[in-house]
Amino acid sequence: MPMELLPLVPPGGLKNSQAPWDSFDSRDYFEHNYRSLREDDRRILTAVRDHFGAHLGHNGGELRGLDVGAGTNLYPSLAMLPWCSRITLFERAAGNVAWLREEVGRYGENWDEFWQVLTELPAYQGVADPRLRLAQAADVVQGDLFTELPQRVADLGTMFFVAESLSTEAEEFVSAVDIFAKALRPGAPFAVALMENSEGYEVGELVFPAYKIVTNDVVDCLRGHAADDLRVTRIEDGPKLRNGYTGMLLALGRLRP
Ligand SMILES: C[S@@+](CC[C@H](N)C(=O)[O-])C[C@H]1O[C@@H](n2cnc3c(N)ncnc32)[C@H](O)[C@@H]1O
Repeated sequence: MPMELLPLVPPGGLKNSQAPWDSFDSRDYFEHNYRSLREDDRRILTAVRDHFGAHLGHNGGELRGLDVGAGTNLYPSLAMLPWCSRITLFERAAGNVAWLREEVGRYGENWDEFWQVLTELPAYQGVADPRLRLAQAADVVQGDLFTELPQRVADLGTMFFVAESLSTEAEEFVSAVDIFAKALRPGAPFAVALMENSEGYEVGELVFPAYKIVTNDVVDCLRGHAADDLRVTRIEDGPKLRNGYTGMLLALGRLRP
Protein backbone atom coordinates (compact mmCIF):
# COMPACT_ATOMS: atom_id res chain seq x y z
CA MET A 1 0.00 0.00 0.00
CA PRO A 2 1.47 3.43 -0.85
CA MET A 3 2.49 5.45 2.18
CA GLU A 4 -0.25 8.04 1.76
CA LEU A 5 -2.98 5.40 1.96
CA LEU A 6 -1.86 3.99 5.29
CA PRO A 7 -4.50 4.63 7.94
CA LEU A 8 -3.21 7.21 10.36
CA VAL A 9 -5.54 6.78 13.30
CA PRO A 10 -6.19 3.48 15.16
CA PRO A 11 -9.22 1.58 13.74
CA GLY A 12 -11.31 2.17 16.87
CA GLY A 13 -10.77 5.92 16.54
CA LEU A 14 -9.52 8.35 19.15
CA LYS A 15 -11.62 10.48 21.45
CA ASN A 16 -10.29 13.88 22.39
CA SER A 17 -9.26 12.67 25.83
CA GLN A 18 -7.26 9.78 24.31
CA ALA A 19 -5.02 11.78 21.95
CA PRO A 20 -1.49 12.69 23.12
CA TRP A 21 -1.98 16.47 23.30
CA ASP A 22 0.75 17.03 25.84
CA SER A 23 3.25 15.45 23.42
CA PHE A 24 2.15 17.68 20.53
CA ASP A 25 5.38 18.85 18.90
CA SER A 26 4.82 22.62 18.76
CA ARG A 27 8.02 23.38 16.89
CA ASP A 28 7.32 20.79 14.18
CA TYR A 29 3.73 22.01 13.76
CA PHE A 30 4.81 25.63 13.56
CA GLU A 31 7.60 24.94 11.05
CA HIS A 32 5.34 22.88 8.83
CA ASN A 33 2.35 25.20 8.88
CA TYR A 34 3.35 28.76 9.69
CA ARG A 35 7.02 29.39 8.93
CA SER A 36 5.80 31.19 5.82
CA LEU A 37 2.43 32.29 4.50
CA ARG A 38 0.71 29.69 2.33
CA GLU A 39 -1.75 30.60 -0.42
CA ASP A 40 -4.70 28.96 1.33
CA ASP A 41 -3.91 30.79 4.58
CA ARG A 42 -3.57 34.05 2.65
CA ARG A 43 -7.05 33.59 1.27
CA ILE A 44 -8.46 32.74 4.70
CA LEU A 45 -6.69 35.68 6.32
CA THR A 46 -8.00 38.08 3.67
CA ALA A 47 -11.58 36.85 4.07
CA VAL A 48 -11.44 36.99 7.89
CA ARG A 49 -9.91 40.49 7.75
CA ASP A 50 -12.72 41.73 5.51
CA HIS A 51 -15.39 40.01 7.60
CA PHE A 52 -14.22 41.55 10.88
CA GLY A 53 -13.67 44.91 9.16
CA ALA A 54 -17.18 44.90 7.71
CA HIS A 55 -18.79 44.21 11.09
CA LEU A 56 -16.54 46.12 13.43
CA GLY A 57 -15.37 49.00 11.22
CA HIS A 58 -13.42 51.56 13.17
CA ASN A 59 -15.04 50.67 16.49
CA GLY A 60 -12.64 51.27 19.41
CA GLY A 61 -10.07 48.80 20.64
CA GLU A 62 -11.73 47.67 23.83
CA LEU A 63 -13.36 44.43 22.75
CA ARG A 64 -12.54 40.98 24.04
CA GLY A 65 -11.34 38.42 21.49
CA LEU A 66 -11.07 34.65 21.85
CA ASP A 67 -9.10 32.10 19.81
CA VAL A 68 -9.98 28.53 20.77
CA GLY A 69 -7.31 25.83 20.29
CA ALA A 70 -4.72 28.41 19.25
CA GLY A 71 -1.92 25.85 18.80
CA THR A 72 1.07 27.66 17.28
CA ASN A 73 -1.00 29.90 15.06
CA LEU A 74 -0.99 33.64 15.75
CA TYR A 75 -2.81 34.83 12.65
CA PRO A 76 -6.35 34.49 14.06
CA SER A 77 -5.28 36.69 16.97
CA LEU A 78 -3.59 39.17 14.64
CA ALA A 79 -6.82 39.35 12.64
CA MET A 80 -8.71 40.40 15.82
CA LEU A 81 -6.06 42.83 17.07
CA PRO A 82 -7.38 46.28 16.02
CA TRP A 83 -10.60 45.80 17.98
CA CYS A 84 -9.32 44.13 21.13
CA SER A 85 -7.74 45.16 24.38
CA ARG A 86 -7.76 41.52 25.49
CA ILE A 87 -7.40 38.37 23.38
CA THR A 88 -7.63 35.00 25.11
CA LEU A 89 -5.66 32.25 23.38
CA PHE A 90 -7.27 29.14 24.83
CA GLU A 91 -5.30 25.93 24.36
CA ARG A 92 -5.15 22.46 25.84
CA ALA A 93 -1.65 21.17 24.99
CA ALA A 94 1.06 22.10 27.51
CA GLY A 95 3.75 22.48 24.82
CA ASN A 96 1.58 24.80 22.75
CA VAL A 97 0.73 26.86 25.82
CA ALA A 98 4.45 27.29 26.57
CA TRP A 99 5.14 28.13 22.91
CA LEU A 100 2.34 30.71 22.84
CA ARG A 101 3.43 32.37 26.10
CA GLU A 102 6.91 32.83 24.71
CA GLU A 103 5.79 33.87 21.21
CA VAL A 104 3.22 36.50 22.13
CA GLY A 105 5.84 38.39 24.17
CA ARG A 106 7.57 39.38 20.95
CA TYR A 107 6.37 37.44 17.93
CA GLY A 108 8.74 36.18 15.24
CA GLU A 109 9.41 37.78 11.87
CA ASN A 110 7.49 35.08 9.99
CA TRP A 111 4.25 36.75 11.14
CA ASP A 112 5.17 40.01 9.42
CA GLU A 113 3.92 38.80 6.04
CA PHE A 114 0.63 37.78 7.66
CA TRP A 115 0.33 41.23 9.21
CA GLN A 116 1.15 42.80 5.84
CA VAL A 117 -1.93 41.17 4.32
CA LEU A 118 -4.07 42.51 7.16
CA THR A 119 -2.83 46.08 6.72
CA GLU A 120 -4.38 46.18 3.25
CA LEU A 121 -7.51 47.09 5.25
CA PRO A 122 -7.29 50.58 6.87
CA ALA A 123 -8.56 49.36 10.27
CA TYR A 124 -5.27 47.47 10.76
CA GLN A 125 -3.14 50.46 9.78
CA GLY A 126 -4.23 52.11 13.02
CA VAL A 127 -2.19 49.56 15.00
CA ALA A 128 1.21 51.24 15.09
CA ASP A 129 3.14 48.40 16.72
CA PRO A 130 1.34 45.05 16.37
CA ARG A 131 4.07 43.20 18.31
CA LEU A 132 3.65 45.40 21.33
CA ARG A 133 -0.12 45.48 20.99
CA LEU A 134 -0.35 41.67 20.89
CA ALA A 135 2.05 41.36 23.82
CA GLN A 136 -0.23 43.67 25.83
CA ALA A 137 -3.52 42.10 24.75
CA ALA A 138 -2.72 38.38 24.70
CA ASP A 139 -3.77 36.17 27.57
CA VAL A 140 -2.74 32.54 27.05
CA VAL A 141 -5.02 30.23 29.02
CA GLN A 142 -4.50 26.51 29.34
CA GLY A 143 -7.70 24.50 29.42
CA ASP A 144 -9.95 21.85 27.91
CA LEU A 145 -12.63 23.48 25.79
CA PHE A 146 -15.09 20.71 26.63
CA THR A 147 -15.08 21.50 30.34
CA GLU A 148 -13.31 24.80 30.91
CA LEU A 149 -14.28 27.34 28.27
CA PRO A 150 -16.40 30.09 29.85
CA GLN A 151 -19.70 31.12 28.24
CA ARG A 152 -20.66 34.46 26.66
CA VAL A 153 -17.30 36.10 27.20
CA ALA A 154 -16.10 37.13 23.74
CA ASP A 155 -17.10 40.01 21.46
CA LEU A 156 -15.39 38.33 18.50
CA GLY A 157 -13.89 34.89 18.13
CA THR A 158 -11.97 32.40 16.03
CA MET A 159 -11.46 28.65 16.07
CA PHE A 160 -9.06 27.39 13.42
CA PHE A 161 -8.62 23.71 12.53
CA VAL A 162 -9.81 22.55 15.95
CA ALA A 163 -13.42 21.22 16.01
CA GLU A 164 -12.75 18.61 13.29
CA SER A 165 -9.11 18.03 14.31
CA LEU A 166 -9.47 16.94 17.93
CA SER A 167 -11.25 13.59 17.77
CA THR A 168 -12.69 10.97 15.40
CA GLU A 169 -16.12 11.29 17.09
CA ALA A 170 -18.99 13.12 15.39
CA GLU A 171 -20.43 14.14 18.77
CA GLU A 172 -17.18 15.80 19.79
CA PHE A 173 -17.03 17.76 16.51
CA VAL A 174 -20.58 19.07 17.02
CA SER A 175 -20.00 19.70 20.68
CA ALA A 176 -16.78 21.68 20.04
CA VAL A 177 -18.63 23.96 17.62
CA ASP A 178 -21.51 24.39 20.11
CA ILE A 179 -19.15 25.24 22.93
CA PHE A 180 -17.26 27.75 20.77
CA ALA A 181 -20.52 29.45 19.81
CA LYS A 182 -21.61 29.59 23.45
CA ALA A 183 -18.38 31.36 24.38
CA LEU A 184 -19.39 34.27 22.12
CA ARG A 185 -21.70 37.13 23.02
CA PRO A 186 -24.82 37.81 20.95
CA GLY A 187 -23.92 39.58 17.69
CA ALA A 188 -20.21 38.62 17.91
CA PRO A 189 -18.53 38.17 14.51
CA PHE A 190 -16.69 34.84 14.26
CA ALA A 191 -14.46 32.86 11.91
CA VAL A 192 -14.13 29.08 12.01
CA ALA A 193 -11.61 27.33 9.72
CA LEU A 194 -11.68 23.57 9.21
CA MET A 195 -10.00 20.80 7.22
CA GLU A 196 -12.33 19.09 4.79
CA ASN A 197 -12.37 15.27 4.80
CA SER A 198 -9.36 15.02 7.08
CA GLU A 199 -8.22 11.51 7.97
CA GLY A 200 -6.07 12.65 10.87
CA TYR A 201 -2.66 14.28 10.87
CA GLU A 202 0.90 13.69 11.95
CA VAL A 203 2.81 16.16 14.08
CA GLY A 204 6.41 15.09 14.59
CA GLU A 205 6.28 11.37 15.33
CA LEU A 206 2.70 11.29 16.55
CA VAL A 207 -0.72 10.92 14.98
CA PHE A 208 -3.69 13.12 15.92
CA PRO A 209 -7.31 12.35 15.16
CA ALA A 210 -9.80 14.08 12.88
CA TYR A 211 -13.47 13.73 12.05
CA LYS A 212 -14.25 13.89 8.33
CA ILE A 213 -16.47 16.84 7.50
CA VAL A 214 -17.75 18.63 4.40
CA THR A 215 -19.45 22.01 3.95
CA ASN A 216 -22.91 20.78 4.95
CA ASP A 217 -21.66 19.48 8.30
CA VAL A 218 -20.32 22.92 9.13
CA VAL A 219 -23.52 24.66 8.04
CA ASP A 220 -25.61 22.15 10.02
CA CYS A 221 -23.86 22.74 13.29
CA LEU A 222 -23.44 26.51 13.00
CA ARG A 223 -26.87 27.35 11.59
CA GLY A 224 -28.60 27.22 14.96
CA HIS A 225 -26.12 29.69 16.45
CA ALA A 226 -25.52 32.10 13.59
CA ALA A 227 -27.37 35.09 12.19
CA ASP A 228 -28.74 34.77 8.64
CA ASP A 229 -25.58 35.86 6.88
CA LEU A 230 -23.53 32.71 7.69
CA ARG A 231 -21.22 31.80 4.78
CA VAL A 232 -19.13 28.66 4.41
CA THR A 233 -16.50 28.81 1.66
CA ARG A 234 -14.31 26.02 0.32
CA ILE A 235 -10.67 26.94 -0.13
CA GLU A 236 -8.20 25.01 -2.23
CA ASP A 237 -5.46 27.45 -3.17
CA GLY A 238 -1.82 26.49 -3.70
CA PRO A 239 -0.09 23.19 -2.90
CA LYS A 240 -1.56 20.86 -0.29
CA LEU A 241 -0.20 20.98 3.24
CA ARG A 242 -0.12 17.17 3.49
CA ASN A 243 -1.98 14.12 2.27
CA GLY A 244 -5.24 13.00 3.82
CA TYR A 245 -7.60 15.96 3.33
CA THR A 246 -9.39 17.51 0.36
CA GLY A 247 -9.34 21.26 1.09
CA MET A 248 -10.07 23.84 3.75
CA LEU A 249 -13.39 25.32 4.80
CA LEU A 250 -14.00 28.76 6.22
CA ALA A 251 -17.19 29.70 8.06
CA LEU A 252 -17.81 33.42 8.59
CA GLY A 253 -20.77 34.75 10.47
CA ARG A 254 -22.12 36.50 13.52
CA LEU A 255 -23.70 35.01 16.56
CA ARG A 256 -27.46 35.50 16.59
CA PRO A 257 -28.23 38.83 18.27
C1 LIG B 1 -4.82 21.06 14.39
S1 LIG B 1 -4.38 22.00 15.78
C2 LIG B 1 -4.88 23.66 15.28
C3 LIG B 1 -4.02 24.69 15.93
C4 LIG B 1 -4.24 26.13 15.44
N1 LIG B 1 -5.54 26.64 15.80
C5 LIG B 1 -4.04 26.30 13.97
O1 LIG B 1 -4.79 27.06 13.36
O2 LIG B 1 -3.10 25.75 13.40
C6 LIG B 1 -5.62 21.58 16.97
C7 LIG B 1 -5.42 22.32 18.26
O3 LIG B 1 -6.52 22.04 19.14
C8 LIG B 1 -6.02 21.89 20.46
N2 LIG B 1 -6.98 21.11 21.24
C9 LIG B 1 -7.28 19.80 21.10
N3 LIG B 1 -8.20 19.42 21.99
C10 LIG B 1 -8.49 20.52 22.72
C11 LIG B 1 -9.36 20.77 23.82
N4 LIG B 1 -10.12 19.79 24.33
N5 LIG B 1 -9.40 22.01 24.34
C12 LIG B 1 -8.63 23.01 23.83
N6 LIG B 1 -7.77 22.84 22.79
C13 LIG B 1 -7.72 21.61 22.25
C14 LIG B 1 -4.71 21.17 20.22
O4 LIG B 1 -3.84 21.20 21.32
C15 LIG B 1 -4.17 21.91 19.00
O5 LIG B 1 -3.45 23.05 19.36
